[in-house]
Amino acid sequence: MPTLASVILAAGEGTRMKSKLAKVLHPLAGKPLVDYAVEAARQLSGRAPVLVVGQQSDAVRAYIGERAVFVEQAERRGTAHAVQMAEPVLRGQADHVLVCYGDMPLLRPETLRRLVETHAAAPGNPALTMLTFVSDNPRGFGRIVRKADRTVAAIVEEAAATPEQLTLRELNVGVYVFDGAWLWDALARITPTPPKNEFYLTDVVALANAGGRPVLALQGDDPDELIGINNRAHLAEAEAALRRRINLGHMLNGVTLIDPAATYIGPDVTIGQDTVIYPNTILQGRTAVGADCQIGPNSILTNATVGDSCRITASVVEDSTLERRVEMGPFVRVRGGAYLCEGVQMGNYGEVKKSHLGPGVKMHHFSYVGDAEVGAGANVSAGVITCNYDGVNKNQTIIGEGAFVGSDTMLVAPVTIGAGALTGAGSVVRADVPPGKVAVGVPARIIGDNPIPERRAAKKRAEGGK
Ligand code: UD1
Ligand code: CA
Repeated sequence: MPTLASVILAAGEGTRMKSKLAKVLHPLAGKPLVDYAVEAARQLSGRAPVLVVGQQSDAVRAYIGERAVFVEQAERRGTAHAVQMAEPVLRGQADHVLVCYGDMPLLRPETLRRLVETHAAAPGNPALTMLTFVSDNPRGFGRIVRKADRTVAAIVEEAAATPEQLTLRELNVGVYVFDGAWLWDALARITPTPPKNEFYLTDVVALANAGGRPVLALQGDDPDELIGINNRAHLAEAEAALRRRINLGHMLNGVTLIDPAATYIGPDVTIGQDTVIYPNTILQGRTAVGADCQIGPNSILTNATVGDSCRITASVVEDSTLERRVEMGPFVRVRGGAYLCEGVQMGNYGEVKKSHLGPGVKMHHFSYVGDAEVGAGANVSAGVITCNYDGVNKNQTIIGEGAFVGSDTMLVAPVTIGAGALTGAGSVVRADVPPGKVAVGVPARIIGDNPIPERRAAKKRAEGGK
């Protein structure tokens, strides 16, 4: 098996972005542009690519971390010079060297793989094989001049092209696979091109031809793949194209999107079959949604794990887990590592933070539960608040199984409501309520046993007697 290394050029200033942020750190579908290039290269070669950085290199290094090997291009002297920065790391280390840009996030690993395979399988020992695209919209790209035998004669940059060459429709995408034994010496022979006196990587074509080594080209077939980002209009174009690609993938996997154009799904999100996503819904980060769910409209899920058959309407879930058959909304927010067990029901205007809600907990109307453990089947009535913050510390509330926390109860944490206990409407609970007891008033005092079980039994008897 021939070995493959990859070099990603990401030292450009990105001045046309007009931004404080380095171009390759601008997010696309929630992830920095450079992430896409790094991951594509890693998937392709199984090893960390060499990332050529310059502008805000510290921020790029911090973000990518161990996933790439970094080399610095202190001065921006052209694409050939940028590739040369990788020579100390890669010379003699790989049979083939892939070169691509950090600002082309829609390039698929499969396309890169086809390019590498085409190069490796080609007869005639080509010096390089490049990716091209045929289009009526030249985008300022270099034009490909072919020989009669279909190998590449030259790449002509737009600024240097004759009127006749400008009409050529085959474009240089900027992705190349090189013979690793040939590349580095060829780069050393490139001379600067006026007026900016940059060292152009595209000059390798003339060097290969002069040395009798063929240059091959593989034509890509997806126009979205060659979207390179130079300004924010390109960024929006790429965002729309990536959204179409991601959404199509989910639809072909059995997910219904009522309006794909108004559904925003991040690249790392998974969704189960027969789930329906309603418009104006954003699923981002490491979100995983199960099967047979209904999500949206108007919902935002960030790093959410959602079990099967859940229903989330006009709500926000962040860094939290929902088991099966959870229903929430409209206007609910769940955050901070909350865990909602099977069958939890949350109605309108509820917030749950960093709390565990047992199976079947009901929390139907405007209430806040933070830093709490709520037992199975407990009822959190309208207006209940866990007063979890005393101005200094966050304190824990425990609500036992089957407890009934009455409307407008203030639970002044730390406090425990025992299993099967009841609090009266408007009570302010400052001391623990033992299991099965009822507490009322401000501050709440125990007045006897919880009468609900007996009342329920009586109702059942009356109904049965009819
Ligand atoms: C280049 C190609 C052109 C091709 C086009 C496709 C050359 C001479 N031309 O032109 O044929 O059609 O890409 O997009 O290569 N970079 C560095 N260091 C540098 C210079 C560039 O890291 O010193 C990086 C940039 O960050 C960018 C990439 O290389 O990601 C391309 O550079 P750019 O100057 O934009 O090349 P183009 O003029 O677009
Ligand atoms: Ca460019």
